[in-house]
Amino acid sequence: MKLVTLPIVLGIALVAAECPYHQWKAPEPSDFRGPCPMLNTLANHGFLPRDGRNITKETTVNALASALHFNTSLGTLMFEMAIVANPEPNATFFTLDQLNVHNVLEHDASLSRSDAFFGNNHIFNETIFEETKTYWTGPVLDANMLANGKIARQVNSKAFNPNYTFTTTMEQFSLGEVSAPIVAFGDLQAATVNRNLVEYFFENERFPAELGWSIRNATVSLDDITRLTQTISNATSLITTGEPVVSTRRRDLHAGLNL
Ligand code: HEM
Ligand SMILES: *[C@@H]1O[C@H](CO)[C@@H](O)[C@H](O)[C@H]1NC(C)=O
Ligand SMILES: *[C@@H]1O[C@H](CO)[C@@H](O)[C@H](O)[C@H]1NC(C)=O
Ligand SMILES: *[C@@H]1O[C@H](CO)[C@@H](O)[C@H](O)[C@H]1NC(C)=O
Ligand SMILES: *[C@@H]1O[C@H](CO)[C@@H](O)[C@H](O)[C@H]1NC(C)=O
Ligand SMILES: *[C@@H]1O[C@H](CO)[C@@H](O)[C@H](O)[C@H]1NC(C)=O
Ligand SMILES: *[C@@H]1O[C@H](CO)[C@@H](O)[C@H](O)[C@H]1NC(C)=O
Ligand SMILES: *[C@@H]1O[C@H](CO)[C@@H](O)[C@H](O)[C@H]1NC(C)=O
Repeated sequence: MKLVTLPIVLGIALVAAECPYHQWKAPEPSDFRGPCPMLNTLANHGFLPRDGRNITKETTVNALASALHFNTSLGTLMFEMAIVANPEPNATFFTLDQLNVHNVLEHDASLSRSDAFFGNNHIFNETIFEETKTYWTGPVLDANMLANGKIARQVNSKAFNPNYTFTTTMEQFSLGEVSAPIVAFGDLQAATVNRNLVEYFFENERFPAELGWSIRNATVSLDDITRLTQTISNATSLITTGEPVVSTRRRDLHAGLNL
């Protein structure tokens, strides 16, 4: 028994010792964190600088490649979209707290953050996340559930936040964010993801390895993201397809009223 377990224990210890870089560690008070649960997670695991500073193109591309198997051009594109967060001209890096500035990249109606109008716009907010989860009606999230959570958050903000802002650019980013859980933890073809993995990720800003998740083998490219955001976008429609079954009498009545 001992002879069998010793090498196993040693092996596990070695792997852990060799890889302190990817161990999860809660942020220190002086570490910067932002509104993106994934960038926070990457920093908590040391894929990005743990202090949340000096996030360069190289660091971003490498982190997204090694933690999520994003291909190089996708990682590069994401950095190029992010760099506007650093107000310095020709900046070569950004910091996680620079992402907190309202209406630059950070926007209203987030899935797990409060609108800036009501308070802190970048830390995880349990009340908001509970609201989103109301629409996650099964153990496997699909495009409809994710889309419903998104629309519901927008309706809530539009109704109660007198300063609600949501531009067409924000819509594109938002669709990307709503499909992101599938990209990170789900089935790219089926456009589904296990709810428990997504909840664990949002709540802990940690990869759900202890729930059995492991990095996908396939590389993720821009084509995957484009297709998934389109799938989510389609699912945000409140119009159903096909003809409903209605009685002839009701149909005649409606037709009559429409005349
Ligand atoms: C350089 C890369 C990235 C940057 C600069 C970035 C930035 C942001 C920002 C600024 C937000 C806040 C938007 C809001 O107000 O709700 C956000 C949200 C989000 N991001 Fe990222 N992100 C990046 C990559 C990723 C990746 C790779 C994933 C996962 C595959 C991801 C997942 C999410 C999710 C799920 C949200 C929504 C959070 C919520 O609505 O509560 N992000 N990201
Ligand atoms: C920022 O990170 C880059 C590598 O991406 C490194 O070359 C540079 O020295 C770092 N700068 C600071 C101030 O830490
Ligand atoms: C990334 O994937 C795209 C397909 O979407 C492909 O055109 C591109 O060559 C790939 N880039 C790298 C660096 O692998
Ligand atoms: C930024 O880059 C542009 C184009 O390369 C250059 O003309 C400009 O002088 C740079 N600005 C600063 C502040 O370095
Ligand atoms: C969470 O969001 C709600 C609604 O915007 C807000 O009233 C509450 O103060 C926030 N909670 C925290 C801890 O920021
Ligand atoms: C209110 O809306 C304006 C215009 O969109 C925006 O500039 C400002 O940052 C918003 N403030 C808050 C707290 O939402
Ligand atoms: C990746 O491939 C290996 C070997 O075929 C397999 O055991 C593993 O489950 C795969 N990982 C995922 C997330 O599909
Ligand atoms: C989205 O809807 C359009 C219009 O019905 C359709 O052509 C397209 O194939 C759909 N895309 C996805 C990814 O489902």
